[in-house]
Amino acid sequence: MLEKLKELESAAKDKIEAANSLEELKEIRVKILGKKGALTGLLRSLGDVDPEERPVIGKKANVLREELEEFFKLREQILRDAEKEGQWEKERIDVTLPGQPEQIGQIHPLNMILNEIREIFVGLGFQVAYGPDIESDFYNFEALNIPAEHPARDMQDSFYITEQFLLRTHTSPVQIRTMKKMAPQLPVRIIAPGKVFRRDDDATHSPMFHQVEGLAVDENISFADLKGTLLLFAREMFGPDQKIRLRPSFFPFTEPSAEVDISCIMCSGEGCRVCSNTGWLEILGCGMVHPRVLEVSGYNPREVTGFAFGMGVERIAMLKYGIGDLRLFFSNDLRFLKQFG
Ligand code: FA5
Ligand code: MG
Repeated sequence: MLEKLKELESAAKDKIEAANSLEELKEIRVKILGKKGALTGLLRSLGDVDPEERPVIGKKANVLREELEEFFKLREQILRDAEKEGQWEKERIDVTLPGQPEQIGQIHPLNMILNEIREIFVGLGFQVAYGPDIESDFYNFEALNIPAEHPARDMQDSFYITEQFLLRTHTSPVQIRTMKKMAPQLPVRIIAPGKVFRRDDDATHSPMFHQVEGLAVDENISFADLKGTLLLFAREMFGPDQKIRLRPSFFPFTEPSAEVDISCIMCSGEGCRVCSNTGWLEILGCGMVHPRVLEVSGYNPREVTGFAFGMGVERIAMLKYGIGDLRLFFSNDLRFLKQFG
């Protein structure tokens, strides 16, 4: 009987040590310590043993049982640790592998141009002002010297919300809003970027587009200041040799008025679809602030003068990037947009 116990002990210990997984260990445990296990069987057959030897063998068997329990525990701990380690190994990050590139967007070309315009004018001492997209008839037309029946309204047909409110057709209403707020302080020097809306739709006209308004009011501001400012802008934007052309024009809120063209960069002035074969592309309207507008806004036209301009941002972007159709800016085609990284 003692022999059998010894055999069982060494066989059991070997098996436990050789167990390679928790599963396997469990099976071994059942085979040795389970109800029908080897050691359990041995204990059961204690009855056949000589009564004198019985307590000695019984004690030995119980000690062995405890020892084996301890063995199982140890092995279990080792296997558990190994399992965890294996999991970490699997989850470990290899920092030398190339990363997965993040798909990030980029600034829209129109916003890039807007930022550039802003930089140039902020550098000249202009501040940035904003006005609402939904504007009242008063700010969009009346205060700008465009009364209800004035034909100038035809050129800026728009989207009306009510009789009194519409989507603004230009950024010029910000002139009035700014002057009313600031009067009688001098100087006024602002640019006002934003969206404007008109009933237009072709390769160079969009129903929604962007303008940047400019306004400078002070004592002794002259048309020369206006021209100098715009020439400087054009050269900063398009390069030191850029030419501009001022054409006499009419706006009810400026006197005198002009429109400014940039020699067409698409065709180098030869004439193409973008410039309607003229070699020039209109980028802005401008002029000296009309005395009536100064007056409505709280300034005395006998004491101060001012210049104003309103430029089309899409037109500038088209010229700068050589784009033949402004509708591309709004078509959300990534193949187009990704070119401006
Ligand atoms: C005006 O909107 C005047 N408010 C500009 C102004 C401001 C004059 C201050 C005097 C003093 P005009 O309608 O010409 O003017 O538009 C100005 C510029 O916006 C144009 O030169 C052109 O570059 C751009 N533009 C006009 N309509 C569209 C359109 N539908 N799509 C894209 N750009 C346009
Ligand atoms: Mg015009």
